[in-house]
Amino acid sequence: SIIYVITPTYARLEQKAELTRFSHTLLHVPNIHWIVIEDSPEKTVLVQNFLNRTRIHSTHLYVATPSEYKMNLTDPYWLKPRGVLQRNAALDWLRNNTSPDDDGVVYFADDDNTYSLQIFEEMRNTTKVSIWPVGLVAGLRYERPKVTNGKVTGWYVLWKPDRPFATDMAGFAIHLNLIHQHPEAKFSNTFAVGQQESTFLTLFNLTLDDLEPKANMCTQILVWHTRTVRSNTPYEKAMVKLYGADAYPNIEI
Ligand code: UGA
Ligand code: MN
Repeated sequence: SIIYVITPTYARLEQKAELTRFSHTLLHVPNIHWIVIEDSPEKTVLVQNFLNRTRIHSTHLYVATPSEYKMNLTDPYWLKPRGVLQRNAALDWLRNNTSPDDDGVVYFADDDNTYSLQIFEEMRNTTKVSIWPVGLVAGLRYERPKVTNGKVTGWYVLWKPDRPFATDMAGFAIHLNLIHQHPEAKFSNTFAVGQQESTFLTLFNLTLDDLEPKANMCTQILVWHTRTVRSNTPYEKAMVKLYGADAYPNIEI
């Protein structure tokens, strides 16, 4: 089957570095289609050029997060959800551009996480929803589904363990057929804080029994919720003063 990798992305100093790093992972994965959705009112030159130069089969979309849902620099990182309308744009694209009976797997892969190559092969034979642990998340070395006799029976998590599907976005993949069978299923900025994943998955009429535990019955960490330290550039004015604007032009980074 083909894996549709859905990646929201937004402009910041680290964006091209993140996309470069992730694209180098994806270059090693056969049979993928990368859907990159910019959080922007238009396609940016940076992402457009970037995707044109990579050899990954990709689709480039954009939708801006409305300002009331956009994070302020001073907000705690968990206050507002990120990537919501962007993932929905990709779901719309899939519903309009693939067939209901196509054999495809959908994975929501943020641009800053770290992905083993193995995780893509684990998710490739998803029937309904595959699930696996995520490393470096929620103040823990990892969170993981609880597996008993080959079946998911609950969740080893601390934060809101009563969530129906207590997984991070990086911890599951869903078959394309389900996306078509449930055309109303999407993410929403009105879902409870931190519960995009769980609330989204409840929209597919699934039971825990439907979940397919991967990564050796959820005993291996094959994806990490890494977060990149923000780079500051406080010395730009001093550079221009010392060398002149011609010596320190706006080269794309
Ligand atoms: C955690 C989860 O891992 C995310 O999948 C989830 O979207 C997020 O929480 C949430 O609660 O909404 P975290 O590392 O805190 O993720 O979030 P980011 O990595 O900052 O953002 C997730 C994705 O959305 C990234 O691909 C990022 O590029 C994108 N994003 C972020 C935007 O499109 N717009 C923004 O303003 C910020
Ligand atoms: Mn992240």
